Amino acid sequence: MSIEKTLSIIKPDAVSKNIIGKIITRFEDNGLYLVAGKLLHLSDDDAGGFYQEHKGKPFYEDLIKFMTSGPVFIQVLKGEDAIIKNRELMGDTDPTKAKKGTIRADFANSIDANAVHGSDSQTSAIREIRRDPEKSGKTPYQSCRALFVIQSLPRKKLLNAALRG
Ligand code: RTP
Ligand code: MG
Repeated sequence: MSIEKTLSIIKPDAVSKNIIGKIITRFEDNGLYLVAGKLLHLSDDDAGGFYQEHKGKPFYEDLIKFMTSGPVFIQVLKGEDAIIKNRELMGDTDPTKAKKGTIRADFANSIDANAVHGSDSQTSAIREIRRDPEKSGKTPYQSCRALFVIQSLPRKKLLNAALRG
């Protein structure tokens, strides 16, 4: 067992259903800590960055269209075996196949609108969380990274930094 960080996205369908809190509660109740998070509207490039391994597949265009259709809540979760634990809590990609009690079984409508994204390996988690300063404009990774920095500051500085946005 090891302490890991993983990237999680609450997708536009779940944000529009107003269930961000219900989903985060699943993580909290299972020992995962929210260590960075932000509500964002992804650009095509942002969404493509998370799903580059699927480029060219039949569902890719629809996936990017869906992920950019409305705001998402993007977050970094930390805890013991966070990557696999998050995937277990999410459930199968197709909610009709997902185990009862998983996020997708309980909250997702379809394989396309399936409530959450989660890094599927250590390599993807690192890639998805890391900010690449060479390539970056203002990317979601950068936002997460900024919040990581805030976490380690003393409370007064933290408040000031939070107020600066
Ligand atoms: P995610 O990346 O969003 O966490 O989902 P996942 O690992 O469970 O599934 P993945 O294979 O990475 O697929 C990414 C997203 O693409 C859509 N998809 N549609 N129609 C299809 O056969 C199909 N396969 C995948 C899903 O919305 C999936 O979450
Ligand atoms: Mg995936």
